[in-house]
Amino acid sequence: MARNKITIVGAGNVGATTAHIAATKQLGDIVLLDIVEGLAEGKALDIAQAGPIQLSDSNITGTRDWEKTADSDIVIITSGLPRKPGMSRDDLLAKNVRIVKDVSQKIAEYSPDSIIIVVCNPLDAMVYTAAKVTGFAKHKVMGMAGALDSARFSYFLTTELGVSAKDIKCVLMGGHGDDMVPLTRFTYIGGKAVTELLDEDKIAELIERTRKGGIEIVNLLGCSAYYAPAAGAAKMAEAILKNTKTEMSCCAYCDSEYDAGGCFVGIPVILGKNGVEKIIELDLNGSELTQFKKSLAHVKKLTEQVDTLL
Ligand code: NAI
Ligand code: 2OP
Repeated sequence: MARNKITIVGAGNVGATTAHIAATKQLGDIVLLDIVEGLAEGKALDIAQAGPIQLSDSNITGTRDWEKTADSDIVIITSGLPRKPGMSRDDLLAKNVRIVKDVSQKIAEYSPDSIIIVVCNPLDAMVYTAAKVTGFAKHKVMGMAGALDSARFSYFLTTELGVSAKDIKCVLMGGHGDDMVPLTRFTYIGGKAVTELLDEDKIAELIERTRKGGIEIVNLLGCSAYYAPAAGAAKMAEAILKNTKTEMSCCAYCDSEYDAGGCFVGIPVILGKNGVEKIIELDLNGSELTQFKKSLAHVKKLTEQVDTLL
């Protein structure tokens, strides 16, 4: 049986960490590609040498040559500038559009049947860029943010409530920015909604920390997070490659759903071998819908900027 082939574009913090997790999970053979000479090659060799210790038989190749990525099943785009202290994700737009455009053209040329998971920021606008440039079916282009933002919210809940993350189910919608919408009415711990377990002020505090979760790490490290983002990207790839039909939040194309009017934005979906196989339509109340619409409007403004740059 043919093995899955995963290309990871960008061998920086997120890309290399995603490659390591994917190899550890034995998701398939991995091609790690970067423009910097020696970087992808060196990181791939190091990850490959962890294989015998971790008993992984994933083949991993580091390269600058797109031909080696040919016929990938999944391409994960992590090539893009990360933010530095004082920057917002939106500040990255002009530079990262150029990178994602270039990379997307290569993906369309070398892996026309692949499914794309975008990671670079500003996330929702970069997913739009990849979809527009490749022309791929919309269910085959998506972005990783919901997995990370939900994980941050879950982590804060585990520490607050002293429960295992395995017992928490979070749902989060909207763009990957400060106006993301954690849905507390749909966040369950052992069958109870979080709104029954914590008071309003505490929930508001944890939501605020989740919304600022990215910058909290940027301020500590001087660069953006990568272990949790990479875990999120690998989880999405796993759901697709193993056809697990896993429910998770990710940036996906939404049209009549949530009255979004044709936009890539964070929503709960089912991921399987065809990519985004289903959009889950929650019965949002007035306040939740208002917050979602505000975030959606922000994402749409960014995609309009992308159109002027492509
Ligand atoms: P990094 O700077 O460590 O790595 C980026 C890599 O991309 C570099 O090695 C660079 O040489 C490479 N690259 C640039 N242009 C390229 C091209 N045309 N082809 C191939 N490789 C190219 O950055 P890091 O920390 O890995 O972050 C990557 C991106 O992911 C950033 O835009 C960051 O903001 C975003 N990010 C998004 C998250 C999310 O939740 N969606 C979470 C964390 C990071
Ligand atoms: C994060 O939320 C930088 O978007 C990235 O950590």
